[in-house]
Amino acid sequence: MEKRPIIIDTDPGCDDFFAIMMAAAYEGFDIRAITTVAGNAVVDVTTRNALDIAKLLGIKTRIAKGAGSAMMHPFDEPAAFVHGLNGIGQVVLPRSEQKVDEMKAWDVIYDEACKADGQLELIPVGPLTNVAIALLKYPDLKDKIKRITIMGGSTTIGNCLPYSEANIFHDPYAAHLVFTSGIPLVMAGLDITLTALVPTDDIMKMSEDIKNKAVRDTVVQLAKIRGNEPFHDVVAVASVIKEDIAEYKDYNVEIEYKSPLTYGRTIVDTTFTTGKAPNCRVMTGYNVEAHKTMFADMMRKY
Ligand code: RIB
Ligand code: CA
Repeated sequence: MEKRPIIIDTDPGCDDFFAIMMAAAYEGFDIRAITTVAGNAVVDVTTRNALDIAKLLGIKTRIAKGAGSAMMHPFDEPAAFVHGLNGIGQVVLPRSEQKVDEMKAWDVIYDEACKADGQLELIPVGPLTNVAIALLKYPDLKDKIKRITIMGGSTTIGNCLPYSEANIFHDPYAAHLVFTSGIPLVMAGLDITLTALVPTDDIMKMSEDIKNKAVRDTVVQLAKIRGNEPFHDVVAVASVIKEDIAEYKDYNVEIEYKSPLTYGRTIVDTTFTTGKAPNCRVMTGYNVEAHKTMFADMMRKY
């Protein structure tokens, strides 16, 4: 089977860990790079985490450091109460000796897009700053990306403001550039990812199938720390692996990046009142049982 070239753009992040774990467990992916961005923690920390997660999971790929703050405002203090000061729930991973790529994240995205001859897929599961910078720096990039599947936004509720989800809220102008790029987009919004809960007890049971002790211990620690919280980012990866795990509708989605009340909201035109053409396949349903099965299958690969 021809492997599908992908880049995961991430701010690890407890749920990012499981998203990377699922991507690495899938034989059909050729992970061309993991690019890091500030979000759940400052970018030096998310980069450290990406290096150490790749070592733990045996992922041999480029790790490139990206943006440390949003395009339009200084870096938002990370939600340490959610992901801990070290971004992964204070879990300590064996330190990787791998060097960060000499290229910045946005340059690696372009470099790999050129090499993949139009087949590269991006899976951003943090703020979209790196992708936006790449689009600004390389105007022809939009013609070289097959698809972008993001965890971000929401058709309904938010987690940073009443209607604003974190990944968009942390850099709404970057999201605006991505959503207006014309690149085929899939949005796994918070309204959907909140349904994709794998209960902690289930994860504990599944983790018994993990042969690698260091991986098993990490999974158990993270699951306990994030107890009964959905691992949002996994939904984006799972839908790239198994497209029919979700239901979708094509909508026009615009990003609010001016109003203080709805800063970072994804305005999903579900009533077609704007008269604007759809620019995004928005997840409208998700098969949680299939998600749990994929989660269990993933564990058995380590
Ligand atoms: O809103 C959820 C998103 O914000 C996830 O990507 C999580 O890792 C945080 O970055
Ligand atoms: Ca994330």
